Amino acid sequence: MVKILFVCLGNICRSPTAEGVFRHYANNAGIEDGFTKKIYIDSAGTAGYHLAAPPDKRAQLTALKFGVDIGELQGRKIALQDFSDFDYILAMDTDNLMIMQRNCPPEHQHKLHLFMSFAENCPGITEVPDPYYGDIDDFDKAYDFIDRAARGLLRYIQREYNL
Ligand code: 4NP
Repeated sequence: MVKILFVCLGNICRSPTAEGVFRHYANNAGIEDGFTKKIYIDSAGTAGYHLAAPPDKRAQLTALKFGVDIGELQGRKIALQDFSDFDYILAMDTDNLMIMQRNCPPEHQHKLHLFMSFAENCPGITEVPDPYYGDIDDFDKAYDFIDRAARGLLRYIQREYNL
């Protein structure tokens, strides 16, 4: 099984959207996710501001426009155990990547990547900008970036794991 964790700051905007969008594409490609499946998908925040909270309404509405329902997800903070449990730990931006690099044991550092590094045809775009203090256009932009990276990530995982 390959285990993928998406990480942002609050786990209520970008990373739950990435979790939902990636699950949507994986499931559409016939790759179901879950504890007993070939792939396991989750998300977390580096901060614990929104523990057990549903995703931000604006993130939920943006995802729903594309048929992706993230309403059931709940915020959680990344834990030390996640660094050993997951195979790919994908940060939405450099700040959150650096926070994880400081906390991740050396033997798991290779699992940490910027999520946007999986996007194809997005030269120069390295981060999903934080939409939390922005307006609905910022959520649309974040969604577009997440969508591109999720599609690239799925192609990469399919190739790498013959799925
Ligand atoms: P996220 O956005 O990291 O994409 O979930 C944020 C959510 C909450 C806060 C900041 C960013 N906050 O400061 O509460």
